[in-house]
Amino acid sequence: MIVLRSRQEIDLIRAACQIVAEVLQRLGAMVAPGVSTAELDERAEKWTRERGAVPAFKGYNVGGRVYPSSLCVSINEEVVHGMPSAKRILKEGDIVGLDFGAVHKGYYGDSAVTLAVGGVSENAARLMQVTRESLYCGIENMRLGNRIRDISAAIQNHAESHGYGVVRDFVGHGIGQRLHEEPQVPNYVGAGQNPRLKEGMVLAIEPMVCEGTYEVEVLQDGWTAVTRDRRLAAHFEHSVAVTANGPEILTLPS
Ligand code: CO
Repeated sequence: MIVLRSRQEIDLIRAACQIVAEVLQRLGAMVAPGVSTAELDERAEKWTRERGAVPAFKGYNVGGRVYPSSLCVSINEEVVHGMPSAKRILKEGDIVGLDFGAVHKGYYGDSAVTLAVGGVSENAARLMQVTRESLYCGIENMRLGNRIRDISAAIQNHAESHGYGVVRDFVGHGIGQRLHEEPQVPNYVGAGQNPRLKEGMVLAIEPMVCEGTYEVEVLQDGWTAVTRDRRLAAHFEHSVAVTANGPEILTLPS
């Protein structure tokens, strides 16, 4: 069931989203060679609790596996769900995906960015840029009269027109009183449900874009998804409401 949110509920989701946006912005300012991914995770949790919210991923159960951290930190060939560790140190030239969610007064926010650690290769910079553009191509299509597949097509066309692959194994999602709600929002055109967009839908749009193959595999740790060919991947995500006036991005820092 797809829940349509009232103005009041969207305001509540926005409040959670604003905490996520602020945390991601502050984490972004910390990203530098020598910083451990555990330090980023600790800060994310601390800043969230200071705002009276709770990290959404910590303790999250996916098919019986419980995610142990507050933040996902995915470096280079890691696509999503990289687990923070004191032993994992950012280095010059890395690209690092920071994916964070929070719950506040029962409502969820979810957002992700991919950032450069110091100077990065032109290829890495281009991949990040095109992935971010793909996210905005998808968001622009969150208009009444469109369907979910219009969002998917816009994301896929933009990424593939630059020679990149879009990940199939993970998708965007509805968000509100749970982290993952209906509908699914694939970043490619496939079969399956294709609901019409309605006023009050809130969707987390999150393209994962690869330099090479879009195929991913999950490492022994049970979480970290990496590209099969170990080439780079990037990930950007916003939580966005469908309104009569067009898309409203709730996770933009104010
Ligand atoms: Co998400």
